[in-house]
Amino acid sequence: MEAPALPRPERLRLLVGLPADEQRAPRAAEPRPGSSTMTERQRSEETRAALPGSAAAVPPPAGKTSPASDAADATPAGEASPLELSGAALRRLVDAAMDRIAPHLDSLPQQPAADTAGGAALARSLVEPLPELPAPLDEVLELLFERAVPKSFNTAGPGYLAYIPGGGLPQSAVADLIADAVNRYVGVFAAAPALAQLEANVVAWFARLAGYPEAARGLLTSGGSLANFTALVTARRERLPEQFLAGTLYASDQAHHSVQKAALLAGFPPASVRSIPSDAAFRLRLDLLEEAIDDDRRQGRDPFLVVANAGSTNTGAVDPLGPLADLCARHRLWLHVDAAYGGFFLLTERGRRTLSGIERADSIVLDPHKSLFLPYGTGALLVRDGAALRRAHGVTADYMPPLSSDDELVDFCEISPELSRPFRGLRVWLPLKLLGAAPFRQALDEKLDLARWAADQLRAMPEVEILAEPELSLLAFRLAPGDPSAPAGASGAAGAAGNQDVDRLNRLNRDWLARVNARRRVYLTGTMLGDRFALRICVLSFRTHRDRMEQALEDLEAARVEVMRA
Ligand SMILES: Cc1ncc(COP(=O)(O)O)c(C=O)c1O
Repeated sequence: MEAPALPRPERLRLLVGLPADEQRAPRAAEPRPGSSTMTERQRSEETRAALPGSAAAVPPPAGKTSPASDAADATPAGEASPLELSGAALRRLVDAAMDRIAPHLDSLPQQPAADTAGGAALARSLVEPLPELPAPLDEVLELLFERAVPKSFNTAGPGYLAYIPGGGLPQSAVADLIADAVNRYVGVFAAAPALAQLEANVVAWFARLAGYPEAARGLLTSGGSLANFTALVTARRERLPEQFLAGTLYASDQAHHSVQKAALLAGFPPASVRSIPSDAAFRLRLDLLEEAIDDDRRQGRDPFLVVANAGSTNTGAVDPLGPLADLCARHRLWLHVDAAYGGFFLLTERGRRTLSGIERADSIVLDPHKSLFLPYGTGALLVRDGAALRRAHGVTADYMPPLSSDDELVDFCEISPELSRPFRGLRVWLPLKLLGAAPFRQALDEKLDLARWAADQLRAMPEVEILAEPELSLLAFRLAPGDPSAPAGASGAAGAAGNQDVDRLNRLNRDWLARVNARRRVYLTGTMLGDRFALRICVLSFRTHRDRMEQALEDLEAARVEVMRA
């Protein structure tokens, strides 16, 4: 079924550059340019005035003349550069962007769940050299909202059930606007003490949520990958000598590939990462882990780190965290928990039960841009012994301002890889302050219910096999006609189906997935579980509710009937 087209936003009247006389704030009685109280004559005068002024600030290349260069010559000396927007001009720019953003967000449920057809050709058509002249704002916004944004996965929409969704809280977009507009420096405590403290509060809230002690510290990163990398480097610095190449780390065969990447970036050869087989529920096998550790020690290697899943990307599996903490204590290994997807389910009672034991980890990654619904660009790392972060990252220089000697007041540059950095804390702090934790808890509880409901519906569908029951809000399943008793298990064979059936079933399931996605109400992705291709549903967007899940199940059933007939 074709999703209705995105309604076209109201035509804009504003152009990007503003003449110098527009750089000052309007008098109180003046109608705001572009406002509905302006007359048509005022509007067209505003538009005309904006054009030459916008071109004036950028000199044309040597030897070239243009109307724009005439305007540049005519610009009186001492006039403000268009780089220096007045408050009024900035407001108009933001208003113009909002005229596009608001209808875009309001129409998310009607937009296709994914539409990337022709996207590569569009991308190629956009290649261009550095522009010398300004472009009209209307044209730029038109390109973004009418052409570029629609050619994408609708990652913010309710039908996005692929990979790991999040949604993107608009409150965080407002926080980013504030943070970028005030452009304060939070890498060093002394430069913006109160703002650095707001970010430290966010980290402390997360640490309390994880059950960590007061001594825990942490940082916000660009995402889970960088948080996993920082954790791995911290563990390496804490547990291995300077010459660390005998160091060995362990993760299940279901670990996110950012763990392998982090190990490479941290200087370990690929063979230093031991992939431990998972069990039938895709959880790390403790017996095989212990065997591998013992084997490695016997061979003179230096086991130092175990990475556990608290919600794997493939199936949502949660490794046995308590028993893993026991094992790591016995073997004196650092336990890192990758809770990038699952972590914020700690806000719910069921989540806390599922993730119990996480508080015993040495470090934990949580991704606010997943289960706290933030826009992309925010991960978090928590370290139980906060001083370890400083030992791993504390490097300074003569030109630096004095850093805080008070353990309570955090210089983020001292405990993280970054010096200059965006004020990430605000995009987390603002929605939590404005809304409180309750709506987040409720939304996450709803996702837990929706995933269980979807699993029940799928279980009742003929020929469908649930490969991974939802431990949180993610499940994996497939069609297995003629193979009703195929046992679950990541590395198992195809069960009752013979080997030649494996390819047939995988093709059938890829076809099923393609037919569901072609309906464009939901977007799902698949994965390989051992040699079996599985479909996944990850319910995590705060915008996904029961109505969209019913559509998902309708489409799965209709597509199932089609593939079984084909
Ligand atoms: C379990 C897990 N860990 C780590 C990551 C990497 O996070 P990011 O994409 O924020 O770098 C992901 C991403 O989906 C994930 O699911």
